[in-house]
Amino acid sequence: MEYSNRRIIIFDTTLRDGEQAPGASMNTEDKVVITRQLLRLGVDVIEAGFPVSSPGEFESVQAVAREAGESAVVCALARALEKDIIACVRALANAKRSRIHTGIGVSQQHLQGKLRMTEAQAIEQAVKAVSLAREFSDDVQFYAEDAARADREFLFTMLEAAIGAGATVINIPDTTGYSLPVEFGKLIAEVRAKVPGIDAVTLAVHCHNDLGLASALAIEGLRNGAEQAECTINGLGERAGNTALEELVMAISLHSEELGMHTTIKTEELVRASRLITQVTGIRVQPNKAIVGANAFVHSSGIHQDGVIKQRDTYEIIDPTTVGYKGNELLLSSLSGRAALAERLTEIDLPIESQHQLDEVYQRFVEIADRKRIVYDEDLEVLMQEYGRSFDSLWRIKTLQVNCGFPLIATATLVLIDPSGEEHIASTTGTGPIDASYKAADLIINEQLELLEFSVMSITRGIDALGEVSVLIQTDDGSSFTGRAADGDIIVSSIKAYLNAINRMLRTRARQSRSS
Ligand code: KIV
Ligand code: ZN
Repeated sequence: MEYSNRRIIIFDTTLRDGEQAPGASMNTEDKVVITRQLLRLGVDVIEAGFPVSSPGEFESVQAVAREAGESAVVCALARALEKDIIACVRALANAKRSRIHTGIGVSQQHLQGKLRMTEAQAIEQAVKAVSLAREFSDDVQFYAEDAARADREFLFTMLEAAIGAGATVINIPDTTGYSLPVEFGKLIAEVRAKVPGIDAVTLAVHCHNDLGLASALAIEGLRNGAEQAECTINGLGERAGNTALEELVMAISLHSEELGMHTTIKTEELVRASRLITQVTGIRVQPNKAIVGANAFVHSSGIHQDGVIKQRDTYEIIDPTTVGYKGNELLLSSLSGRAALAERLTEIDLPIESQHQLDEVYQRFVEIADRKRIVYDEDLEVLMQEYGRSFDSLWRIKTLQVNCGFPLIATATLVLIDPSGEEHIASTTGTGPIDASYKAADLIINEQLELLEFSVMSITRGIDALGEVSVLIQTDDGSSFTGRAADGDIIVSSIKAYLNAINRMLRTRARQSRSS
């Protein structure tokens, strides 16, 4: 096989393995928004979900397929079970380009400990599953779960059987992130050398980060003959996560010549993708995270600053603009006018569409600028998002007054405007100001809601930063909805996030009743 300057296929599994990260559940709307960003990045394959797992997940896979159109292959996951495969077939029925991803455990730990099967039974089940999937699709990917810890001879026999049954992509996962990169590389080289028929299919790697080596494992797999790498934005995924798309893509980009490979990912979209995943899931990346962490391009010691000022490449291996940092050359503050705001918004790809829109956004901008010394691009992104949302708001906040402290009992007086424009007021106590505000909202809106998750994070820099609140609510029929909002005051962000989730719930209900 010729390895010189190969194009690596980027298979993104943020919506499937990424969603398996604790607390990262995404609803259909979230998945559609993320799909748009994955398309902007130019990923080749989007693994949209595991349709048999729930009606919501099934619907999400359908929605991702609709959104992706011709622009990417949309893949759905199935265990080697008929019901799983049929769920994939149905969920992908209207996809323009689709793939079924099925497979089975192959290590002794999986065969004996989980599946309680012999090797022969596992091969039989895998062959049945791949054959069934092939009846419906020309694009069937087979995963050999926990391949890195499997007996090699059995693994090769399993892969040969899967190829014989019609698999068109063979995926070798290091499911537990156990390997050393050099060992994983050897495994892939052996698969390439020893499995009959392997050169007629696409060879993929899927690595986990339990030893912090997921990106190195993927690179070694690719260096040794794999053609597709599976990864997630921010490395989100089970336990310690998966190969981070941004790390893999930038390592390939910087070392393209010596690796003899490249990808067609639009690297300028990486930072935006990372921020979007953080906003949707509420899961932050650590500040020192490679490529997308808040400190990834910040030089703080005097010696480093001196070097960077004289010549950037003394301490900077990547030009930050190539991964999408836009820079803050034009500092916006309360002294800035409409023109400066409009120019900056255009520069960061959030152009103003009309004078009326500019007037409204400017008013909100001034409110933020009054509380902050400098308004950063991140603040503007949040502002525009919130502004866009407010158009289709159903419930809106008019005023919120809280009284709290030690040893006071927290009380909140809330005035909300309902969808018809009528004002409602409620006043109540709680364990703290946020609890009191939520109880006041419950009194007004009168829905049976349970607050499952609540998280606050500072999404911009400084003590006066905007605080974004993410919430997850559940209705009495078990449906759940996320809500997010940002404000300089976290009590205000909290109530806005709650209303955002409630409005999403009401919009979903309205859509469902229209279509039934
Ligand atoms: O880690 C793993 O083995 C997986 C498979 C389903 C590909 O996620
Ligand atoms: Zn995985």
